[in-house]
Amino acid sequence: MPANVHVISHPLVQHKLTLMRKKDTSTSSFRSLLAEISMLLGYEVTRDLPLVTERIETPIAEMDSPVLDGKKIVIVSVLRAGNGILDGMLRILPSARVGHIGLYRDHETLQPVEYYYRMPGDLADRDVIVVDPMLATGNSAVAAVSRVLQDKPKSVKFVCLLAAPEGLAVFHAAHPEVPVFTAAIDQKLNEIGYIVPGLGDAGDRLFGTK
Ligand code: URA
Repeated sequence: MPANVHVISHPLVQHKLTLMRKKDTSTSSFRSLLAEISMLLGYEVTRDLPLVTERIETPIAEMDSPVLDGKKIVIVSVLRAGNGILDGMLRILPSARVGHIGLYRDHETLQPVEYYYRMPGDLADRDVIVVDPMLATGNSAVAAVSRVLQDKPKSVKFVCLLAAPEGLAVFHAAHPEVPVFTAAIDQKLNEIGYIVPGLGDAGDRLFGTK
């Protein structure tokens, strides 16, 4: 297992991922499954959030009860497929703040170029989770996380659904301190940058644009 990578092997995640991989799974099922898996990934990625206690009154008695400490988390969606993970994560973190980053691949340099970037203003006090379903070459994940780090957030984690070993190596070389959470590490990338066996184009399958 590469360093700083967490594979979420929970049976529910693995079962839902298999359904997502099948080529005949409909857009509607693919979308629901991605949201469901994202809730489970969100559960794991938030496992170490700090708590404080708050004095409350139940109908029976007073007690000191745990609540999340600090400012609201920021979920950063890498457009456009990141929005599929964002939708699921917002179901378990309904008050999270949301950032968006848009990148396209320059045809000549093959490097990601930013076309959109919008974040909450006060990142210095906030934990950030950057989400993008497919960590393939790793180039867009590196670019997205590098851009977010320029705004000096309190912490950054990266969540994807599938990762290629090549992409994980590229990501880890650039950002060894940023933990990656994924449902699976697949075999390899093919010659056109798709994850094998993967699930195809996540954005097309999520939005029905094929
Ligand atoms: N992006 C996708 O949507 N699928 C892949 O397999 C690789 C990158």
